[in-house]
Amino acid sequence: MQETLTNTTESPLDPIISVKSLWKIFGSNQEEIVNSDDGETDKTEVLQDYGDVVALNDVSFDVYPGETFVVMGLSGSGKSTLVRCLLRLIEPSSGEININDDDILLYDADRLREFRRNEMAMVFQHFGLLPHRNVIDNAAYGLEIKGVDKDERYEIAQEMLNKVGLEGWEEARTSELSGGMQQRVGLARALTVDPTILLMDEPFSGLDPLIRRQMREELADLQAELQKTIVFITHDLDEAVTIGDRIAIMRDGRITQLGTPEDIITNPIDDFVKEFTRDISQTRVLSVQSIASDLEQVFENNTGVSEIIQAMEDTGKEFAFIVDDDSKLLGFIDKEAIEGAADDVSLKDMDLSVIEPIHESTVIEDVVQLTLDNPYPIPIVDDENILTGLATHDAILQAFAENALQQQTN
Ligand SMILES: Nc1ncnc2c1ncn2[C@@H]1O[C@H](COP(=O)(O)OP(=O)(O)OP(=O)(O)O)[C@@H](O)[C@H]1O
Ligand SMILES: [Mg+2]
Repeated sequence: MQETLTNTTESPLDPIISVKSLWKIFGSNQEEIVNSDDGETDKTEVLQDYGDVVALNDVSFDVYPGETFVVMGLSGSGKSTLVRCLLRLIEPSSGEININDDDILLYDADRLREFRRNEMAMVFQHFGLLPHRNVIDNAAYGLEIKGVDKDERYEIAQEMLNKVGLEGWEEARTSELSGGMQQRVGLARALTVDPTILLMDEPFSGLDPLIRRQMREELADLQAELQKTIVFITHDLDEAVTIGDRIAIMRDGRITQLGTPEDIITNPIDDFVKEFTRDISQTRVLSVQSIASDLEQVFENNTGVSEIIQAMEDTGKEFAFIVDDDSKLLGFIDKEAIEGAADDVSLKDMDLSVIEPIHESTVIEDVVQLTLDNPYPIPIVDDENILTGLATHDAILQAFAENALQQQTN
C-alpha cells in the first residue's frame, strides 16, 4: 500500500474524511469543558476537577481517497471512541466530521441510517458476528438490511467469501471457525455492502501473531484490488508501518503526531513516540530514495559508443544506464556488451538489457534481494519512469549498519 500512495500529506485530492476539532467527553460537564478549552485541556486534570473523561481532545485530521490511515495509541488513548464517532455510534461532544463534504453530525436519523448502510462499514475487534447464523448469512447481513433479495445477496456474499479465502465454508456456523476465519467473515460482511470507507478497530488483535501477519498481508492484497479508504486502528506500530500510508499517534485523546511511517520513524516528535518506534527497523520504512546515490554512468541515447566506453574506462565502472532526452530510463548496458557491438552501430540500435527499476517509494528492506542478485546498482525511478537515483550495494549495507547501531544505542 505504501507504494501506491506515499505522500498524501500533499495530496492533490480533496479529503474524503475531514475531522475538525472533534471532542468527546464522557460525563456531565461536556459543554463547560469544551468551551473553557485554552488548548491545554488535560485528561488527568479534567478527571480530578470534574470527574469526566476526555476521550477525544480537539482532534483534527484529513483522510484521502484510497488511503490507509492508521490510528495508533496505547489502551485508553481514544482510538475506538474516534472511529465510533465516525459512524456516530458515539455522539461527539463537539466538532465536525465531514465525509465527502457533508457534516454527518447534522444528519437526521434516516440519512444516518442510509449513510451507515451504504458509505461506511466497520470491522470490529471481536468480530461481532451473529452466532446462530451460518457464514454466508453473516457475510450477507449488510445486504439483507438493505433489502437486497436472497439470490443477489448470496451471489455478492459468495464473491466476497471467495476473496477472503473462505470458499467452502458458507454453511458453517461461525462458532465452528477459528478466530482468523471469523475475522475473515467480519471482513467479508463489511465488504459486501461495497462501502467507500472501511473502519477497522483492531481487527487482528485477537489473533495469534502468525495468523495476524497473514491477515495483514491479505488485507494489503485486497486493498490493492479494491482501493477502499481505510481507517485502521491498532496499538501495534509494526502493523501500523506495514499497512499505513499515514499514521496518527494518539495519546490521552489527542493526536500528538501525524505523518508517513517514514516521518514517524525518522522523526519521532517526543519521547513517547520514540519509545513506540524503538524496535522498528528503519530499513522497513525508509524508502530507497532516502539512501539513493547520485546519478552516475548515465547517458542519453544519442551519446557515442566510444564516449561511453571511455567513461567506463575512466571511472572503472563497467556499466551504463541509458535514458532518453526526458531522463526516462531506457535500459542498461555493460562493458562487455558495448565493446562487442560494432563501432558504427549507434546506441539507439543496440539491444539494451532491460533492468527492472525500483520505484522510489519502495522500502529498503524490499530491495535487498534484488541488490544481492545484481552486480550493478539498481536504477530508481519515479512514477513517470524518470531515473532519479541509484541504489548501490554500499548504500544499502550502510542503511542496515546504521540501523543496527541505532537499535543498540536505544
Ligand atoms: N462509555 C464510556 N464511558 C466513560 N468513559 C469511556 C467510555 N468509553 C470509553 N471511555 C474512556 O474514554 C477513553 C478512551 O477510550 P477508548 O475505548 O476510545 O480507548 P482505546 O484507545 O480504544 O483503547 P483500547 O486500546 O483499550 O481499545 C478511556 O479513558 C476510556 O476509559
Ligand atoms: Mg479500543
